[in-house]
Amino acid sequence: MEITLNSPLDMHLHLRDGDMLKLTAPLSEDFAGAVIMPNLVPPVTTPEMLQSYSARIEQAMSGTPFSRYMTLFFTPLGEKELEAARHTPGFFGLKLYPAGITTNSEGGVSDLARADKTFRLMEEMGIPLLVHGESHGFVMDREAEFLHTYRHLAEKYPALKLSMEHITTAAALQLLEEYPNVCATVTLQHLIITLDDVAGGALKPHLFCKPIAKRPEDRDALLQAALSGHPRLMFGSDSAPHPRCRKEACGCAAGVFTAPVALPKLAEIFAAEGALDHLQDFVSGNACRFYGLTPQARKITLRDTPMQVPAAYRSYGEEVVPMYAGESIGWSVVR
Ligand code: DOR
Ligand code: ZN
Repeated sequence: MEITLNSPLDMHLHLRDGDMLKLTAPLSEDFAGAVIMPNLVPPVTTPEMLQSYSARIEQAMSGTPFSRYMTLFFTPLGEKELEAARHTPGFFGLKLYPAGITTNSEGGVSDLARADKTFRLMEEMGIPLLVHGESHGFVMDREAEFLHTYRHLAEKYPALKLSMEHITTAAALQLLEEYPNVCATVTLQHLIITLDDVAGGALKPHLFCKPIAKRPEDRDALLQAALSGHPRLMFGSDSAPHPRCRKEACGCAAGVFTAPVALPKLAEIFAAEGALDHLQDFVSGNACRFYGLTPQARKITLRDTPMQVPAAYRSYGEEVVPMYAGESIGWSVVR
């Protein structure tokens, strides 16, 4: 069995910078483009930083055409600053992190009320708002506790394109039903694993991410929504590479590195459930329609021949362990 996808997109990707960027960028090139996260050190907060980061990404890629949808780390910007951002080539939207919620988010927002004016301007200008939606509460309840904030934003700014990033709960899917201006991304791991896979037996640092994987009923609801072709649910890997020494450590960094296995594994899952005809929309069509995107025209074929996943990816002095390291998965990219 095989499937050819048109211009698959990863709507939430961490590529990092420096040597790590050189290692990771080529491993996302089976996608035709991606929404690039801004949580570098320091975060990408200005059009100048965004453009120079975009150029470094282009350099790190092997020359394959790749649409870089660049995000700015959310700060309360005024009209002139948003206008400047909007006219910056490659600019896609603003990514909002509650302060301190995850990797390199210390400079995030601690008082949403102070961002009101920026939200209103973004709504008027058609600038998407992408949100890491977690509270600072109990780890399993953080997403649920943030849902009222999504609701508040969706109602107060009905024309704002609002993305609930990396949703992990059935409750978030319910909210998605209610607001046509809201979309959501979901990762590969949250379609597959639960908290049990992370911490139910021997602790698995390479499956630890934020938001943390939830209950079986949440995972099952997310998978069913993806398989059934929900029009505002899109694939965003949240592939988040960290050096092996930061994962296999006391104080494990949050993030699952899925970029190299994402498309084959999605094809395997959708095929196993008889839903391959919904894969194109999940990995591209839904995002293109919701945001009005026209990514690089690319085709990629996936086939049900196994892929042997490397135990680690090593280059430029960096070492990163992918999901399914050392294992075989059922599908692979036809080269
Ligand atoms: O697990 C995560 N890793 N969640 C995030 O929100 C950020 C990401 C990272 O940048 O490492
Ligand atoms: Zn992320």
